[in-house]
Amino acid sequence: MYGNPLMTLPMNPVHFPSALLWLLAGTACLGAAPDNREPAMAMKVLRLNCVPCHNEEKRKGGLLLTTRAGLLEGGDEGVAILEGKPEESRLIQSLAAGVESHMPPKKQLPASQIKLLADWVRAGALWDEAALAGMAPAPRAVALAPVPAAYRPVMALALSPDGSRLAVGCRNEVVLFEVGPDSLKFLDRARAHLDPVQSIAWMPDGKQLVTGAFRRVVVWNTAPFRQEREISTGLTDRITALRALPDGRQVLLADGQVAESGIVRVVDVPGGEIVRSWPAHDDTIFAMALSGDGKLLATAGGDKLVKLWDVGAGTVSAKLEAHSTQVLSLGFNPDSSQLVTGGADRQLKVWDVKTRENTTALASKTTAFNAVLWSAAGPAVFAVTDDGSLLRYTDLKTHTGAQSSDTGNEQVLGKAEVALYCLAATDSGERIFAGSSDGQLLGWNKDGKLLDKIDVVTAQPVAPAPP
Ligand code: HEC
Repeated sequence: MYGNPLMTLPMNPVHFPSALLWLLAGTACLGAAPDNREPAMAMKVLRLNCVPCHNEEKRKGGLLLTTRAGLLEGGDEGVAILEGKPEESRLIQSLAAGVESHMPPKKQLPASQIKLLADWVRAGALWDEAALAGMAPAPRAVALAPVPAAYRPVMALALSPDGSRLAVGCRNEVVLFEVGPDSLKFLDRARAHLDPVQSIAWMPDGKQLVTGAFRRVVVWNTAPFRQEREISTGLTDRITALRALPDGRQVLLADGQVAESGIVRVVDVPGGEIVRSWPAHDDTIFAMALSGDGKLLATAGGDKLVKLWDVGAGTVSAKLEAHSTQVLSLGFNPDSSQLVTGGADRQLKVWDVKTRENTTALASKTTAFNAVLWSAAGPAVFAVTDDGSLLRYTDLKTHTGAQSSDTGNEQVLGKAEVALYCLAATDSGERIFAGSSDGQLLGWNKDGKLLDKIDVVTAQPVAPAPP
């Protein structure tokens, strides 16, 4: 139904192909590249903000915005646009703040996007099918095959806010453990998705859990452990990161297509719907971090950039040219004044959030940094790498101008034989957990003693509870 792609992009150059990148890129196929012509920009705004409700499936208000014919046909109330006359077009009028039947119903488009759409109507509302197809929700049909038995990386870990439970995503399942002082106890497991779980976040109340996989987000109740609802409309591809906002209602998710787009979407959890989306990167978003007050979002892009966002407005407040290849991970320090970033370029860097300056080159290794976190205990930065190291950095020093070789105290706290992909640590820094490429969940204490080594795929309760 869509026109041919205008052009195809080569895969992103992967200079240091970490296993993680290949896993994420594994089944990706190339789509259409967005064009810079005006209709393409307008298509992007429509696609991200309007198409989720005005498509063949939903057709809210009788209006279809997936084809130009649909646009011209209008909705239940009649004509939606007058070509060349944005002022007289209901579609444009509905975007102004405070008007009746305001669009989109629960959000306000920024003035720049309203202007873009108005200019587009003024220019005749040209259509660009390739652009609309490029990143339209569910743009490519994908038949999900069963996850091969040998494919068992642990790609997501999340500790509950009180640190008492650990949720682990492996293959298409989520497994819950209770965090004891010196060991993990199996609690429950559930088939979460049809395909591998990519991301997990706890809601602030510690009762609900959100998981993300291919074009699907599931909200879980953890006691008892059961699926509460799912969100599968309006998603583009894999949900590579999830973060819960402190309001206890909304979750930010990272969506998008490899080598093409990274989109941040805001999900209203009680309502089970996407309430806002904005294009954030030109490639996969590998990680997201939120400041303590939930107002500042940091995104790590496959396009080598780190961006800081005003969450309320959905606008970018800083763009850091952070790494020479994909940025794989990031985390704020406890007071959110600094940010640590880890890349496929094998660098670990610290940034001042206010000045946006790179204050510390924390480490340079022969392997990619797949996950980092900044713990209040110490304080310390923890990182895991593609060669299976768990590292801890303390006594962090900043440098300006002249490089200092003495930037922090590095300890190799743990070592696995295979790549480590994800990381979690209790607030006290007493317990540190990592997930491996071969399905192992590893747990250490603060002295680097290995306390847990659990095969997540086969983990079971030690003794089943009597009926
Ligand atoms: C969350 C769902 C949702 C989103 C997102 C959304 N709409 Fe709507 N839209 C509706 C509903 C529902 C109606 C029916 C009228 C009403 O209730 O206001 C509607 C009606 C309309 C109408 C009037 C159609 C008619 O003739 O009755 C226009 C024009 C419109 N929307 C444009 C837009 C545009 C432009 C966007 C994106 C900027 C957008 N909508 C995003 C749900 C949505």
